[in-house]
Amino acid sequence: RSTVLADAVRDLLPPGPLLVRDLGCGTGSMGRWLAPRLARPGGQHWVLHDRDPVVLSHAVASLPGGVTGGAGPGDLTGFGADLLAGTSLITASALLDLLTADEMDALAAVCTAAGCPVLFTLTVSGRVRLHPEDPLDAEIGAAFDDHQRRDENGRRMLGPDAPAAAAAAFARHGA
Ligand SMILES: C[S@@+](CC[C@H](N)C(=O)[O-])C[C@H]1O[C@@H](n2cnc3c(N)ncnc32)[C@H](O)[C@@H]1O
Repeated sequence: RSTVLADAVRDLLPPGPLLVRDLGCGTGSMGRWLAPRLARPGGQHWVLHDRDPVVLSHAVASLPGGVTGGAGPGDLTGFGADLLAGTSLITASALLDLLTADEMDALAAVCTAAGCPVLFTLTVSGRVRLHPEDPLDAEIGAAFDDHQRRDENGRRMLGPDAPAAAAAAFARHGA
């Protein structure tokens, strides 16, 4: 993740205490990376969301020093605009490619309704580069993309289509 991004987001945030929501937080890597970079008077409160209660408990236990926080509702597919109201920053990392097109659209709708900055990072994009290079790279890259687009129990994940789907969904909802 780029410190340029963190600086750009910090400049967009309102003064005073922050309420940050990390969607699909996993074990909390976003908080460990971003919270120190947002440091400000008034403090930060992080609400962590993940549908996996085990990783969520790790994330809560590993919130960085000087940050308050806790667990919020887990599965973001049920989130309504009311849940995100009052949030200063919505963030997620390595999440969008796991969503379906409909879930992406619903997420963009509730984020747009919240009217706060949104920082989504580390999304599978379809650009695959392997080091060292090998003649099989293109085949391996295509197989990786196909796997990321897999259908799981009737849910077709966006995989490498996630960045374009996210941009289109946010535009559709007026962001
Ligand atoms: C690839 S991991 C990324 C974890 C963390 N954000 C990171 O960057 O290290 C994706 C996480 O999203 C969570 N997740 C996937 N779909 C979700 C959903 N619909 N609601 C909440 N969490 C979800 C998974 O449980 C998993 O912890």
